[in-house]
Amino acid sequence: MSRSVLVTGGSRGIGAAIARAFAAAGDRVAATHRGSGVPDGVAGVRCDVTDEASVDRAFTEAEALHGPVEVLVANAGVTDDTLLMRMDEKTFTRVLDANLTGAYRAARRAVGPMVRMRRGRMIFISSVSAYAGAAGQANYAAAKAGLIGMARSLARELGSRGITCNVVTPGYVRSDMTDRITDARRAELMRQIPLGRTAAPEEVADVVTFLAGPRAAYVTGAVVPVDGGLAMGH
Ligand SMILES: NC(=O)c1ccc[n+]([C@@H]2O[C@H](COP(=O)([O-])OP(=O)(O)OC[C@H]3O[C@@H](n4cnc5c(N)ncnc54)[C@H](OP(=O)(O)O)[C@@H]3O)[C@@H](O)[C@H]2O)c1
Repeated sequence: MSRSVLVTGGSRGIGAAIARAFAAAGDRVAATHRGSGVPDGVAGVRCDVTDEASVDRAFTEAEALHGPVEVLVANAGVTDDTLLMRMDEKTFTRVLDANLTGAYRAARRAVGPMVRMRRGRMIFISSVSAYAGAAGQANYAAAKAGLIGMARSLARELGSRGITCNVVTPGYVRSDMTDRITDARRAELMRQIPLGRTAAPEEVADVVTFLAGPRAAYVTGAVVPVDGGLAMGH
């Protein structure tokens, strides 16, 4: 059955692949962007997740187009890596605001209609950095770890309402975000990935659509790695 899906940060990279995958499965998909557009077959809605009013407007637009949002994928994220010695408070809180508080804003806007429908799926795109940490990513890793605590709290709050909340932790996925990784760090990561390769964004999308689908009806509060084994054991 076709569902109303909203993907934040659906303009490119992993979010665009997720939006395309839902659309290909026949869902009615809205993806957020900040002016750069979204993939064909998907409705673009403007949204900056650091702004509560903007998140509200994006949901209202998606609802007008497709009906109440039944599947939320909180994917929008940024990095701003630097070592703690050089990480000023603004750099720390800006990354928290986009990755963690942004997901909270989307979840909070999504929850009312989901409770009224007595069904819903929330999927939060975290990162292996959440539990493995990464030098230079104190801000990003804190935000991504925060998503796990938030999602598990929501899983407990909302399970009785037929709403599942899960987290996906990608490893090294080819996108604009990872294009910035230095060659030395890239080589080091490749040595640590048992599958010996990076992931395509579509490989993350496959797991997200599974978690949003009927075959994952009994999965909630889970943290699902899509990392080629990079962070196993954490
Ligand atoms: N690539 C990886 O290896 C990897 C690994 C682990 C986790 N992740 C996570 O996966 C998610 C997607 O990453 P990606 O690799 O696809 O990154 P990307 O190519 O840099 O795309 C980031 C997306 O987030 C959006 N975004 C950023 N700040 C936003 C804001 N304030 N409001 C609304 N949208 C915002 C961007 O929108 P604009 O186009 O408007 O800038 C873009 O759509 C992120 O949460 C990232 O942390 C990625």
